[in-house]
Amino acid sequence: MDEKIVRLLNRLAEQSKRERSGELIVHPEDEMLAITPDTGRFFKIILNAMHAKRILEIGTSVGYSTLWFADAVIQNGISKAEGSNPIITIDINHSKIEKATKNFHDAEVNTLIKVVEGSAMNILQELSNNFHRENDTKKIDGLFDFVFFDADKENLRDYFDLVIPMLRVGGIVATDNMLYPEDYRPQMLNYANYVRSKPYVQSIMVPIGNGEEITIKLAPN
Ligand SMILES: C[S@@+](CC[C@H](N)C(=O)[O-])C[C@H]1O[C@@H](n2cnc3c(N)ncnc32)[C@H](O)[C@@H]1O
Repeated sequence: MDEKIVRLLNRLAEQSKRERSGELIVHPEDEMLAITPDTGRFFKIILNAMHAKRILEIGTSVGYSTLWFADAVIQNGISKAEGSNPIITIDINHSKIEKATKNFHDAEVNTLIKVVEGSAMNILQELSNNFHRENDTKKIDGLFDFVFFDADKENLRDYFDLVIPMLRVGGIVATDNMLYPEDYRPQMLNYANYVRSKPYVQSIMVPIGNGEEITIKLAPN
């Protein structure tokens, strides 16, 4: 793993742990709400196994999960010098975006990551409109290898419908919080039932961290 990324990941994981235990009190708006370290390692294994080079994340917070993704794409052969933004990450919270941007600079992965500020629904609509205007070659190949949903839960079904055409066949959508916090369970079950009803994907919930729905696209939709 990249040394600078590991340093940042360790610092942020420690902070996240202290926030979760209540040892560090922060305003609810500023809570990191990061994935757990074992979830990060799990995603990195998937991303390395599938040679992922193009990732879309909904819900950046301060960039903990994004740093795992950056480490994976570097290992998959993407050079920091290319400046091709293989990772796009979206968040609506300006102060979290500022912190994430600083963390990406500190880890020297800022050239790999395009941070987009705004409502996920608006940005996904825009990405989707651009995608449908692109030529057919790009459409067949899809834009993304891996998409991570880790923001609001109300719009998950719409987010899924918007991103699935932009995902390559063999690509994966991962969705956090399937198990915890427990308050989300009804919404997450509703989402899981929706996704699992689609004939062109296969999907399973993996009980790691807060519970991850892992959905693979097996055919064009
Ligand atoms: C659970 S945190 C993301 C944690 C991050 N993925 C990690 O593991 O380090 C959820 C983030 O989603 C953002 N968010 C919530 N609703 C959103 C929306 N409608 N559009 C964009 N971002 C949103 C919040 O500001 C928050 O930073």
